[in-house]
Amino acid sequence: MALWGGRFSQEADQRFKQFNDSLRFDYRLAQQDIIGSVAWSKALVTVGVLSAAEQQSLEQALNELLQEVQDNPESILQSDAEDIHSWVEGKLIDKVGDLGKKLHTGRSRNDQVATDLKLWCKDQVALLLEAVSELQKALVITAENNQDAVMPGYTHLQRAQPVTFAHWCLAYSEMLARDESRLKDTLKRLDVSPLGCGALAGTAYDIDREQLAGWLGFSAATRNSLDTVSDRDHVLELLSDASIGMVHLSRFAEDLIFFNSGEAAFVELSDKVTSGSSLMPQKKNPDALELIRGKCGRVQGALTGMMMTLKGLPLAYNKDMQEDKEGLFDALDTWLDCMHMAVLVLDGIQIRRRRCEDAAKQGYANATELADYLVAKGVPFREAHHIVGEAVVAAIAQGKALEEMALSDLQKFSDTIQLDVYEILSLQSCLDKRLAKGGVSKGQVQKAITEAKIRLGL
Ligand code: ARG
Repeated sequence: MALWGGRFSQEADQRFKQFNDSLRFDYRLAQQDIIGSVAWSKALVTVGVLSAAEQQSLEQALNELLQEVQDNPESILQSDAEDIHSWVEGKLIDKVGDLGKKLHTGRSRNDQVATDLKLWCKDQVALLLEAVSELQKALVITAENNQDAVMPGYTHLQRAQPVTFAHWCLAYSEMLARDESRLKDTLKRLDVSPLGCGALAGTAYDIDREQLAGWLGFSAATRNSLDTVSDRDHVLELLSDASIGMVHLSRFAEDLIFFNSGEAAFVELSDKVTSGSSLMPQKKNPDALELIRGKCGRVQGALTGMMMTLKGLPLAYNKDMQEDKEGLFDALDTWLDCMHMAVLVLDGIQIRRRRCEDAAKQGYANATELADYLVAKGVPFREAHHIVGEAVVAAIAQGKALEEMALSDLQKFSDTIQLDVYEILSLQSCLDKRLAKGGVSKGQVQKAITEAKIRLGL
């Protein structure tokens, strides 16, 4: 039976009912709805609506229901209740009879759904924080194991300067550290309780909302009832966090797909995260990474969708807001899955050091070094840049790397170049010179790994 039958004399059209009902997705809020209901029943005792004994019977029945829901959440889907709030109330009435009908006194589904969703978001943030941390750990461990794996660093997808695989891993662990801090920041604003705001104007019972908030584990109660029942900023913020996080994962995936390609062949992905082709027997495709890259799209879509849903809404609650859940659930599930998958990818990855180093040697990744060498000998940088540009053209014509050119050939471009040039052209010297904070020198990378390990409790 619907919660609101009294005002109506006709049955809802079946097609409308299906269109309107939200149980098929908001069943995921069952635990939060029950926990919120227990707290509300306690609040009703403080204002004399329920006796202590009545509250105890309700709490006991709700706890039983919680157990049933935890054991078999999917069973909820068999019901034709309109939403999870009606479902919980209906089940409660089944268990305790008319007493169950008192629970909704002074409460509206508007403050109820806002409360349930915030409680769910808080649980989800905890899971996401754990996954962000696990992925950072995997990146830092991979970095630690590959400190001397030199590879080309790119700009414009052209070989630019040598870096190490460790430095590449740490770049992504920095992005993840920011994702982590964004989530923690979101949590601060999210952690205020809507319960007791009623439908829009506040509840007519003199409930201590701060105490109620405390029972539910919120740090405070919200300040304005109109805002509270229509606020979904936390949904937008979490979708933004997920969108940015997924952009990071998508770039991570793209880099590795390229590193794993036959053309680069810097890494070999494990069989555990790749699949074959039904036609071409030689293929081993990076599906896990491609799916991470691909799923980035639906998460951005959920954010944009929710922004548009909320954009012209008048205060306070409107049914449009029911559209907040599916996109949020899907986006946060997707982000979580992708982080788990990224850990799995790193777990079995093999770095082909020889290939990486050979590639780093090609492509004139040490040309900046030669320019700096000239600068150190008094040549203005702009001039040095030009000289090296010409030397590179000559080297390309000879099919050689800069360090393979004869001194006499190099000196054609500047007689400042002497025999000591060969040492600075070595890969190791290119790396070692990046001594300043954040650079790729061994010392800096080691320091970054140590600091990250402490931060992550490794
Ligand atoms: N299913 C609704 C939602 O998700 C619950 C709130 C319904 N409130 C109402 N007044 N119809 O937003």
